Amino acid sequence: MDIVTIRNLKKYFGEGPRRVKALDGIDLSAEKGRFLSIIGASGSGKTTLLNVIGGLYRPTEGTVIVDGTDLSELSEDQLTVYRRRKVGFVFQDYNLIPELTIRENILFPHALDDSRPDEVFFRKLVGLLGLEERLDQYPYMLSGGGQQCTAIARALITKPSIILADEPTGSFDAKTSQNVAGLLKMTAETFHQTLILITHNQELAQLADRVVRLCDGRIVEEQ
Ligand SMILES: Nc1ncnc2c1ncn2[C@@H]1O[C@H](COP(=O)(O)OP(=O)(O)OP(=O)(O)O)[C@@H](O)[C@H]1O
Ligand SMILES: [Mg+2]
Repeated sequence: MDIVTIRNLKKYFGEGPRRVKALDGIDLSAEKGRFLSIIGASGSGKTTLLNVIGGLYRPTEGTVIVDGTDLSELSEDQLTVYRRRKVGFVFQDYNLIPELTIRENILFPHALDDSRPDEVFFRKLVGLLGLEERLDQYPYMLSGGGQQCTAIARALITKPSIILADEPTGSFDAKTSQNVAGLLKMTAETFHQTLILITHNQELAQLADRVVRLCDGRIVEEQ
């Protein structure tokens, strides 16, 4: 079953001669609970595609249906709720809040949403990601890998059905990249989430069930 269905998606930035066709007619679907990776040269539209799926950008044309909801039919407020509850984002630079402890960072989406975290789930997540001993520490006290694990836990804590990861291992050496990508894949499998991962790393891309390549805002290859 497809959880994401994208039809003829176009996203243009700017007007007139300075118009950039970041996405230029994308048809793509992602199956529930599966792992899809997206590769492609710099500027090919990978981040734009992820941001449209995540409800950060509205399409210029085309439709994006996530779990039966056409995102274009959501108001700004509904889109905010969608971003908080339905999707979890993981970025290259973690985006942790330095003044908050690891525990507070992980629970931050619940603070934003004024909702109560599931304590049992929190402990399970922290255990899977090896953060038990780190909860009262601050981000600067952890390695890059540890900080990214914190960001992964934060993305997962609200139990979103889709995890969107934009080059989450972009700043790591080969071994740490494999570890972090492996943890993302493992947590997504454990919690039956759909994982969409952008990477420049062919080896990591191959961890996925399916790989698509973008070029100039179009899909050029699927395997
Ligand atoms: N907010 C924006 N305003 C104007 N142009 C943009 C914006 N975001 C992206 N673009 C342009 O759209 C195109 C696709 O950008 P995008 O960031 O999606 O590429 P990418 O594949 O993620 O690249 P990278 O691998 O470098 O992260 C590029 O030409 C980029 O300059
Ligand atoms: Mg990008």
